[in-house]
Amino acid sequence: MKILVTGCNGQLGRELREVLESSHPDMTVYVGHEELDLTDRQAVEDFMRRGEFTHVVNCAAYTDVDRAEEEKLQCAAVNIDAVANLASLADELGFRIIHISTDYVFDGHAYRPYTESDKVNPLSQYGTTKRKGETALLGLAPESVIIRTGWMYSPYGRNFVKTILKLLHSGQKLRVIADQTGTPTYAPDLAEAIATILFAPQWVPGIVNYANEGVASWYDFAVAIKRMAGIEGPSIRPIPATDYPTPAQRPYYSVLDKSRFKITYGVEIPHWEDSLARCLARMTDIKK
Ligand SMILES: NC(=O)c1ccc[n+]([C@@H]2O[C@H](COP(=O)([O-])OP(=O)(O)OC[C@H]3O[C@@H](n4cnc5c(N)ncnc54)[C@H](OP(=O)(O)O)[C@@H]3O)[C@@H](O)[C@H]2O)c1
Repeated sequence: MKILVTGCNGQLGRELREVLESSHPDMTVYVGHEELDLTDRQAVEDFMRRGEFTHVVNCAAYTDVDRAEEEKLQCAAVNIDAVANLASLADELGFRIIHISTDYVFDGHAYRPYTESDKVNPLSQYGTTKRKGETALLGLAPESVIIRTGWMYSPYGRNFVKTILKLLHSGQKLRVIADQTGTPTYAPDLAEAIATILFAPQWVPGIVNYANEGVASWYDFAVAIKRMAGIEGPSIRPIPATDYPTPAQRPYYSVLDKSRFKITYGVEIPHWEDSLARCLARMTDIKK
């Protein structure tokens, strides 16, 4: 096996590197945006031909959900065209793709966790481009695996956990949305899940959901961050999403059903509160 990880400097890319470097060293090449722009079709083709990879894990994406409403073309270039660039080479060059997608392909009107076959109806540019990326990939490279996830965080990059900690440490009172429900996903857990899929005895193409176990609103998530980080002081008030308008519309409900992942690979998924505790402990260690 020779694996390529794209987007290696993003939240997930960094965690996947840690997992693969410790479990399967010397098997993987890591590439960031500055070394390979995935929207450059010729550059991608040259890189892939030279690399002779058996697998590509595409962790690269345009992920700024609100800015995407303005930067429609830039968002589409990375989330659709770049995916198609990789996918169009997969058959000829004989590599398999694991691609990451999002719970934001759904409109949030469900009353139970979304399965992989539920109807999609994205509400935002980001969700729309990610869905079109899925379709392009499955059309051009049907042997691919697409992992849908949501609400990702880690000690690195821009994410909800880091933002809440920063605001709490500044002593600010917080108002946090309480009527959007999903499941936080700790990036190292998703990285482990990717390794599980890569090294499973059987390759199972198609879409598979992965998030941590449990359910939370952004408000629940913020309160848990405050409690687990042991921060006294500033209060957190629950508010409706209508009191915090954002350029991009987000689903009110985007909990994912992970049965397919658990049954296919025979593994358990950590609960989001346990993973949050691990992340906060690690962030303390990183600071030391
Ligand atoms: N974060 C979440 O809450 C969340 C939720 C659901 C799904 N996902 C999906 O999970 C995956 C990983 O997300 P993440 O949070 O790790 O994202 P991230 O931290 O924003 O990392 C994405 C990486 O992609 C790179 N990239 C952007 N444009 C590129 C291009 N044209 N060519 C090559 N690389 C490019 C970025 O590099 P630069 O920064 O240098 O541009 C960045 O390092 C994405 O597919 C995302 O859609 C994320």
